[in-house]
Amino acid sequence: MKIVIVTGASSGIGEEFVRQLDESFSRIDEIWMIARSEKKMEAIAETLTNKVRILHLDLEQESDRRELQHTFNTQKPNICMLVNCAGYGLMGPFDQLPLEEQMGMIELNCKALTAVTYLALPFMVRNGRIIQLASSAAFVPQMNFAVYAATKSYVLSFSRALQEEVRSRGIFITAVCPGPVETPFFHRAEHYGETLQSKEKFSVSPTQVVKDALNASKKRRTVSVSSLPMKAFHAACKLIPHDFMLEIVQHLYKKEGKQEK
Ligand SMILES: NC(=O)c1ccc[n+]([C@@H]2O[C@H](COP(=O)([O-])OP(=O)(O)OC[C@H]3O[C@@H](n4cnc5c(N)ncnc54)[C@H](OP(=O)(O)O)[C@@H]3O)[C@@H](O)[C@H]2O)c1
Repeated sequence: MKIVIVTGASSGIGEEFVRQLDESFSRIDEIWMIARSEKKMEAIAETLTNKVRILHLDLEQESDRRELQHTFNTQKPNICMLVNCAGYGLMGPFDQLPLEEQMGMIELNCKALTAVTYLALPFMVRNGRIIQLASSAAFVPQMNFAVYAATKSYVLSFSRALQEEVRSRGIFITAVCPGPVETPFFHRAEHYGETLQSKEKFSVSPTQVVKDALNASKKRRTVSVSSLPMKAFHAACKLIPHDFMLEIVQHLYKKEGKQEK
């Protein structure tokens, strides 16, 4: 059974991956969609051409990750592609955000992504591809987005290192690092604190992010960065000392009156 797996498939970038993969893959047996919102995934599945299996799982829960492991062990799928999209962010000062939700970010963005990758690897076919949703927040520490940016640095670092380990098996990993994307992500992210106004100027569509990511993955690139401003930001983060960049962001927050310090 040849399959494609997308986590975070009920919304935003994950939903867009499902749609674009459905259009481009004609010789797969099933697309496996993973998220918590079963009804949303059912509605998306009705519009697709390929056969879909909906796995209604909360990846923050160890028990649900064990259920996925059991499904892999019993179904023994040949995984052509794994896309790890499930994730969330929270903006605001670290000491003012609820601890439980911040730990949840680490659980989902880091631990669940690592576990799903680990569980899927034995079932990946030669020339199989893994796409990991990191973020441009991975490039430099980000005040008022501290835990989220740290989780995404983890994803980027983990993906690049793992690529070298699995290259000889013919498995290719791409870490996707977009700037702001027009998805429901910000509904939750801005619940406690606002982002900088500049976000609006740099927003891109999920369609573009996924198109660029699939293209990068096809070309076996380890990192995909959508849009010219984010490519420039990526280059700047390699050249400019991070302390200086943190000072600039601090200044922008003060200028927009979004921070007391
Ligand atoms: N939008 C941006 O600006 C942006 C920029 C850079 C990187 N990213 C990254 O891109 C990825 C997708 O984000 P998005 O923009 O598409 O946001 P989104 O529209 O909010 O989608 C998040 C997805 O994650 C799923 N999810 C959340 N908690 C889950 C859990 N406990 N178990 C299983 N699935 C869960 C959600 O489904 P359910 O609620 O149904 O579970 C949803 O399908 C995230 O990793 C995010 O960090 C986003």
